[in-house]
Order: sequence, then structure tokens, then C-alpha cells
Amino acid sequence: METRSVLQLDQAISGDSIADNDRFMDIMKTASLLDRAIAVLRLNDTGVFTKPGPHQYPHQWNWDSALIALGLSYFDLPRAQAEIRSLLSGQWRDGMLPSVVYHSIPSDYFPHPQFWQIENSPNAPAVQTTGITQPPLLATVVRLIHERLAIPEFVAEVYPALLHWHRWLHTDRDADGSGLACIIHPWESGTDDSPRWLHLFEAIHPEALPEFQRGDTRYVAATERPNRTEYERFIYLIDIFRQHNYVSSELLAHSPFLAQDILFNAILFRANEDLRALALNLGESTDEIDLWLRRVRSNFDARFWNENLGLYYDYDRRTGRSIPVNTASTFLPLFAGLPSQEQAQRLIEGHLLNPAEYAPGGEVRHWVTTTAQTEPTWEPRRYWRGPVWVIMNWLILEGLRRYGYNDLAALIREDTMGLIESAGFREYYDPRDASGCGSTDFSWSAALAIELLRHP
Ligand code: GLC
Repeated sequence: METRSVLQLDQAISGDSIADNDRFMDIMKTASLLDRAIAVLRLNDTGVFTKPGPHQYPHQWNWDSALIALGLSYFDLPRAQAEIRSLLSGQWRDGMLPSVVYHSIPSDYFPHPQFWQIENSPNAPAVQTTGITQPPLLATVVRLIHERLAIPEFVAEVYPALLHWHRWLHTDRDADGSGLACIIHPWESGTDDSPRWLHLFEAIHPEALPEFQRGDTRYVAATERPNRTEYERFIYLIDIFRQHNYVSSELLAHSPFLAQDILFNAILFRANEDLRALALNLGESTDEIDLWLRRVRSNFDARFWNENLGLYYDYDRRTGRSIPVNTASTFLPLFAGLPSQEQAQRLIEGHLLNPAEYAPGGEVRHWVTTTAQTEPTWEPRRYWRGPVWVIMNWLILEGLRRYGYNDLAALIREDTMGLIESAGFREYYDPRDASGCGSTDFSWSAALAIELLRHP
């Protein structure tokens, strides 16, 4: 264990000294991968929360913070707990945990806090946040930390907030009694620019758009970011939500974008398993969680599984149609233990190991592209259209382990660490040549590098 070097580095870069850019650059040139990962988390630490990226993402993002807390827990447990507390400070009165908590950090980020107009909702919290949520990874992270470090008091402290959020997902976001949660905006999927959302966008024609100026192409090349037509729809949807003052029933009835997302629901199912384990630890009843688990287990396949192709497709709840786009989300149910062993085999052998779709071969040299290469929308450098993301690789390799595919999980782990070693802690990577894309010094890439190093 490299405790000494971690502690020394911690002291060296804590407080103001990390603001000293030269010192940070020195660390990034000479230190071990673990120490460099810690340095990135320290660099992005505002004291209250950790930014996902130093320039591109200057506020607190929901599932980023969950993973950041996981990484922090290996070397600074109090700071990991503070990360989770500051995220929960943005929870809405109805239980919704927003995708972004702005806190009071001034920035040039768009959409800025005022753009959301959340003050018109009776459920809005005292702090500034967005009006939408993100994949619910937090309960899983709390359980992972608790299993390693035994933090029963902290679990007791955060459990009610986690339960409240999951209950909101299973009520306010359940459009058809299936137990499957709906998302109302691509940003809620966490895979914002995924080509599977283009199908829903075909029916959405913004009539009038509020005035806005994009900020996301200020620090990152436009060729690695969403196209204008998609971005206009992102904004148009927010404008609709504002007009409905974020009243859940109205959003379910009127949002032109209403999807049941495999990734979101697989993560929610897994998070419910983990929440259940936390409830048992606390001696709380698990009846309500058991009901959610049962409902989703009995509806998941009917909604998402395509028996002919041996993969899962997302679902357009508005039109009642499956979304026929093959993306890496199809592997996420493995993370939740939802597929049978036979389904798992079809997913892995038919798709993940298929070089025409996801496996290295031809121009693709690295695991796991976020979109299958067979899709006409495949683009190896554009946001969620093809590049490799550390988070997706981690979720997939955790799923592979659950089904006993340990060798394949080890291979993907090694490839992921190789990408980080060669290109640094980037937001995503070009699967052809391992070059970095998007934000630099990206927090969850660092946090997951720590997780992969410490818990191989
Ligand atoms: C991008 C990603 C989203 C992430 C955010 C902050 O918007 O698509 O999943 O949470 O960046 O890193």
C-alpha cells in the first residue's frame, strides 16, 4: 500500500498550495498514477465540492460527485463524506436530487443557475440547482464505502435522503406503473449526446427558443461536442419545464421527450439493491424497496430486451416504441444483475466481443466504444457518439465480474488504465489512437483510476 506517499502528497498539495500551478505540473510529470489521480481531485476541490473538470464543469454534478466521493474515500474519508453532504444539500423538497448543484461559485458556465428559474417550483431547495436529475449512483457508492470502511453513522445520516430520492423516481417518474423511471431530458441520462436520443428529437421542433449562448465549446473543440440542432433541443426542453414550474405530473404529461433509459434504470435497480443492504444494516424495513425491485425485475425484459438481436434497446415512452440504436448502455443491465446467464452470454459474445460493434479490431484499438461502430451515427471523437469513457468501462467491467467474465473484465481494466497512463485523466478518449478528448484533469477519471488501482 502506498499510504506514505499518499499522505506526503496530500500534505504537499493541500490548502492553497495546489493553486500553485507549477507544483501541480511537477506532480503530474513525476508522481505515480495514484498520486496524480489524487492531485487531480485536489486540484478540482473547491473546499465545498469537487468540480468534474477545472474549466468545462465548474459546479457540482450529481453522479460525478458520487464517484468522486468513492475515489476520495481511499485517502480522505471526511472529505468524501463532505462531498456527499454538499450534493445532498441540493435535494428538492419532493426528493429529487438535481443533476447540478451550483453553490455560490461564480462561473462562465451555461446554463447558468438563473436560467432554470427553479424558484417558481414549490419544491426547489434554498440553493441554486438545475431542475432535472441524473443517474442514481449514490446509494451504490455509499454501500461500497461502507463495506470497506464501516461508516454506520454516516449511513444512518444519509439513508433518509437516498430513500426519498428513490421514492421520487418510483412515483413522480413512473409514467405507467411499471416501476421503470422515465427521463425527460437527455442530460438526465448522463449520456447527454447519445445517438439514441436522436430518434426522439425527430419529433421535436423548437418553435421559439429562449436567448442563450453556449459555453461548452469555449474550452473544448466543437467537433467533440454536440451539434447545434441537438443543443437547441436541449434548451427548448428546459424552456418547457420552466413553463410548467417543474410540476412532475405536468412534465410527465407534456414533456415531448419521455424515455425509459436502460442505463438509468439498470443503475436505479442496482442502487435499490444497495439501498436495501443499507436498510438491513440500519434495521429499517425493506418492504417498499422490495416492491420496486420486484416490479422492475418483472418488467425489464418485456420493455427493453430484443430477443432477435440479443441486446437491450431503450424505449420511447411517448410513442410506445423501442429505440433501435445499439449503444454501450446495452451492457449496463449486467451491472444490475438483471440478465439471465444466457442473456449475458448473448450480450457479451454477440456484441461486446464483436469487432464489428464494440471489440477492438480494424480502426478501433480500445475498449469500450460508447456507440457500436455499426451505427450510422458513430463518431469516434464526438461526445457519447463513440469515444471511450472511463465511467462506462468501470460500470461494464463491474457487470462482467458479476457474471464471472473475470478475464474480460481484467482486459478492459488494463486497457482503461493504459488510456489514462498515455493521455492523462481526460473526459473521454478516441478509441482509435487513445488520444484524449473533452475536459482535461477530469475528476471521475481520476476517482475511478484510484478505485481500479486500490480495488483491482
Ligand atoms: C457531461 C456528461 C455527464 C456528466 C457531466 C459532468 O455533461 O455527459 O454525464 O455528469 O458532463 O462531468
